[in-house]
Amino acid sequence: MTIDADPTAPAPFPADSIWLNGPYAPVADELDAPDLRVTGTLPAGLRGSFLRNGPNPAFAPLGRYHLFDGDGMIHALDLDGSGSARYRNRWIRSAGFEAEIAAGQALFGGLSDFRLPPQEILETVGGMKNTANTHIVSHAGRILALMEAARPMELGADLSTVGEYDYDGRLQGGMTAHPKLDPNTGELVFFGYSPFPPFVRVHTAAPDGTLTWSTPVELPGAVMMHDFVVTATKVIIFDLPAAFDVQAMLTGGEGIRWEPERGARIGVLERGAPGDSIRWVEADPFWVFHFLNGHDDGDAVVVTGCRAPRLNTSFGEEALTEAIVPTLHRWRVDPVAGTLTEEQLDDRPGDFPRLDDRRSGLDARFGYLARAETWDAEEVIFDGVVKHDLRTGTSTSTTYGSDALSGEPVFTPNPDGTAEDDGWILNWVTDRTTLESACVVLDAETLEEVARIHAPRRVPFGFHGSFVPDVGLA
Ligand SMILES: [Fe+2]
Repeated sequence: MTIDADPTAPAPFPADSIWLNGPYAPVADELDAPDLRVTGTLPAGLRGSFLRNGPNPAFAPLGRYHLFDGDGMIHALDLDGSGSARYRNRWIRSAGFEAEIAAGQALFGGLSDFRLPPQEILETVGGMKNTANTHIVSHAGRILALMEAARPMELGADLSTVGEYDYDGRLQGGMTAHPKLDPNTGELVFFGYSPFPPFVRVHTAAPDGTLTWSTPVELPGAVMMHDFVVTATKVIIFDLPAAFDVQAMLTGGEGIRWEPERGARIGVLERGAPGDSIRWVEADPFWVFHFLNGHDDGDAVVVTGCRAPRLNTSFGEEALTEAIVPTLHRWRVDPVAGTLTEEQLDDRPGDFPRLDDRRSGLDARFGYLARAETWDAEEVIFDGVVKHDLRTGTSTSTTYGSDALSGEPVFTPNPDGTAEDDGWILNWVTDRTTLESACVVLDAETLEEVARIHAPRRVPFGFHGSFVPDVGLA
């Protein structure tokens, strides 16, 4: 398959937005590309589909654009173990997306420039577009594309959009983009947050998709909550002072404000218990977008995550006028004793933490973070991977190249292996000069490159993904 487009040609979007140009620029096509060029040798054990979600707006924004605003697009790599690879990409066709396609232009505003759509769209679709642009997971035979504070969007095996999924009408509110799969029980544990009381609900879906636990967790006020932690027995909720104000958002004010005077609290709730039995431990204000993992330790829980001193709430281009750097931290929270300890595990900036999902909620040894070559007031450039050995406190790292922009390192286990780090790390990497993209496969034990799957054209920078070995994509 040949793509004639010039990969360095400017996108038909505002030239002054970094999020709409260069390696971030959306692509305008949906491709089916078999037999990709592969450098190196794809491992025979790497069989399945690597699905990655990310923002890809179909139309120029009405106002200020933030990376969080774009329409979701899935980039899929299908690997059959024979050494060949197939690429496909598809937009997530939400009702809001389809309304914009019909109108031929954007109808909804964004996080930093919220606007209600025209009245007829407001009445049929609602005031917000479910972009479903953040993550994609597979559970109970369904492929779910996720954004926080919206319903999951179910996709078919051919990546076509089925529609919003509400667990047979039982899911109240939205679903985080970061649900946790319990490797022992096969349950999917998740939460949803809302600008209206009770602000947070926690849920469990059984392996067959039945919603078996839903409980409200009361907070003093609405806060933004991107991620949480699940252990074998507990759910840990982080009430951090990123105040969410839908009224202000609707009237052109700051929808999310950093209010450190509210303090921060970490809540520990037994799985299956009523939400009002959650036990809170006070903390000094901090912010975390992404947690690596958590596990039980007696009455306590041990949590690892990428801690930043605060959230930059501007969510516009101004987001890069101040360096707010996340680094890997570990907390030990004992809700019975009411104690909290915290330690920094690394002083290098990093985010997008992943692990072997078969160790999720357990005392996992290894974690993989997107390494940031640059994280300053001007820009953030992820260029590699840092592998942490949480048992020994040591780490190793690698870069995808001096001009590379990479993203989340998704660990994929070797189905024939036994060691926790016997597997591969998959990551979409774009050369910032040529704007050519490849999915790079690293040996997770050594961080050495074993294969590079060349995309037929650039794959924009995105958010989260999953390797699904058993989904049988069409
Ligand atoms: Fe995320």
